[in-house]
Amino acid sequence: MAEIIIVPDAAAAGGLVADEIARLIRTRPDAVLGLATGSTPLPVYEALPPRLAGVNVSRVRGFALDEYVGLDPAHPESYRSVITREVVEPLGLDPALVRTPSGSLDGIAHAGEEYEAAIAAAGGVDLQILGIGTDGHIGFNEPGSSFASRTRVKTLTRQTREDNARFFDTIDDVPMHCITQGLGTILAARHLVLLAFGAGKADAVAGAVEGPVTASLPGSAVQLHPHVTVVVDEAAASAL
Ligand code: GLP
Repeated sequence: MAEIIIVPDAAAAGGLVADEIARLIRTRPDAVLGLATGSTPLPVYEALPPRLAGVNVSRVRGFALDEYVGLDPAHPESYRSVITREVVEPLGLDPALVRTPSGSLDGIAHAGEEYEAAIAAAGGVDLQILGIGTDGHIGFNEPGSSFASRTRVKTLTRQTREDNARFFDTIDDVPMHCITQGLGTILAARHLVLLAFGAGKADAVAGAVEGPVTASLPGSAVQLHPHVTVVVDEAAASAL
């Protein structure tokens, strides 16, 4: 059973999760963070700098959940750019210790395996931040993804491309493919922290936390994990 924390707003959630991350880094200076993109984790990233003031973060490691395939890493919406802008730079992390899966077409056949090997070499993820898509996806594991899946290339659904079109000029600019940690990869992290805000996420949250454990709703995989914290605002909790 997940621990469910209902907070007044996203800023409160950000502070709470940032406290937990700061505690982790203080006790384990080479902590391995699992980083999510999208709008949901932003309040966490924004709340972190003051909590890490005076803390040595030079050994903190990070692994992003996913990346678009075929998008120039220098594109402002590549997840490499997003993680650099939202996490690495404001927190002063060592960019060489924060990885994103390679979405470069060159070498894509082995990119998943290489990413898995890098996570394993780091000793696994200590704390994985997760958002959830309106269709219940986590990372970019769309409905139908295997619970045993590992980092691999996937095709984005129309729904997810529409949801993410706001970050691009038009929906046609949203890549068709991505490389994402699998549900099996995510479940191997030692602590999962799932965040969701707004009424649009209410059904996905209820399905993930209370519904049947099913590949039709990838977020429901979190029910298989022994240490999950779900942090939601009232609106996202409204279907629980
Ligand atoms: C994106 C990301 C996910 C994220 C989800 C929700 O497609 N790949 O990691 O959790 O969609 O996005 P948002 O937080 O912007 O609602």
